[in-house]
Amino acid sequence: YRSIKRGRVGGRINPMIRLDEKKVVDFVEIEDIGEKMYLCRCWKSKKWPLCDGAHGPHNRATGDNTGPVVIRRSKP
Ligand code: FES
Repeated sequence: YRSIKRGRVGGRINPMIRLDEKKVVDFVEIEDIGEKMYLCRCWKSKKWPLCDGAHGPHNRATGDNTGPVVIRRSKP
């Protein structure tokens, strides 16, 4: 909760992705996940909802610390 208190209050998080939609929701079928899948959390990816590495330049430019969610299969 500390990060919420320190974070920006109000304003957009999403600068460019499907702005015409009221809510951006994506579904990934479990069967379509290979060994790993990287999901964007910085809202800068041009391959949304997948991470394309855009968080790196964003972090360097802003001092932010965003990164993807990595979905991976458990090792047997
Ligand atoms: Fe957004 Fe990597 S591009 S988390």
